[in-house]
Amino acid sequence: MPIKTAIAAGVVLVLLLGVAASRAADPGALEKEAAKQEAVYQSRGENVPAGYVVDRSLLAYASALPPGFGDSLAKLGPADRWLDIGAGEGKAVLDYYAPRYDSMHPQRRGKKARAVAMSIEDRRTPRWNETAQSLELDQITYWFGRRMREYSAQELGRFQLITDLTGGFSYARQLSVFMERTLGALDLDGNFYTLLLDVLPEKAAGPSTYPDALFLTEIHSAGGANVRVCSWLKSISCVEVSCEPDARSTRPVELYRMRKTCGNVAVPSLELVHYRAGTPPLRRFRVGRPSWEIDQ
Ligand SMILES: C[S@@+](CC[C@H](N)C(=O)[O-])C[C@H]1O[C@@H](n2cnc3c(N)ncnc32)[C@H](O)[C@@H]1O
Repeated sequence: MPIKTAIAAGVVLVLLLGVAASRAADPGALEKEAAKQEAVYQSRGENVPAGYVVDRSLLAYASALPPGFGDSLAKLGPADRWLDIGAGEGKAVLDYYAPRYDSMHPQRRGKKARAVAMSIEDRRTPRWNETAQSLELDQITYWFGRRMREYSAQELGRFQLITDLTGGFSYARQLSVFMERTLGALDLDGNFYTLLLDVLPEKAAGPSTYPDALFLTEIHSAGGANVRVCSWLKSISCVEVSCEPDARSTRPVELYRMRKTCGNVAVPSLELVHYRAGTPPLRRFRVGRPSWEIDQ
């Protein structure tokens, strides 16, 4: 499904699913929304909501993610690792191993980087199993049953490239913990490519630029001021962040590239204050107080 159609379908689904909005302060309501979200993850066949796309190709990744992703992938060598967070069926990883990739990247023929596809639910296909069996052990791995934040640093190891196309970055309820884990698993000089659908881009004048938009991810300061997602990302230490609006989309979509520049990554914490299940869900966060303040 083209990304624009997916965006439109996703927004409709948020509206359909989100009859009851929930607040973190109301654990019952949050639980209800979390159960609806879980049903989306576990949906199969005809029950998979239209906006929940799980089979994007590598070409779709290259077209949707920020420029540079294709080059970063092509530069990986056999000693490197690529993690795709929220991989769905893992089609992008399979395409990387397909002969067509080699014919399109003649300079990169031969042994590839190892790749890990991560998904909450197991969406492996017969094609995944056949490809995994035809390759060396651990060339491609499918991790499922847990969220990104539930893996320890040791389990994750280090990756030279991390991608997330409408995966955990769009779905996580603990976004700051998600970012800590992701950037923690990124090797020095490694890149993380991702995007957000229906978010206020750094370069937009204000929400009125998109009068019909329902913003899916919003951050507010303790005083209630709107903090752009890009500004929050730029406040993370040891990463160089670039944020670009997706000029091809009529909806507000922002593309993010993060390069790790040093080891001391510190992610300003976010507290979830509002959550509604969807594809992706609607999330409102508040910038949390620094831990030294809470300790007093
Ligand atoms: C809409 S699908 C996207 C699949 C794939 N990227 C594509 O474009 O075809 C969302 C994926 O994100 C995964 N996901 C959501 N939240 C996650 C999290 N916190 N950690 C890891 N995976 C997550 C889901 O399990 C699912 O595999």
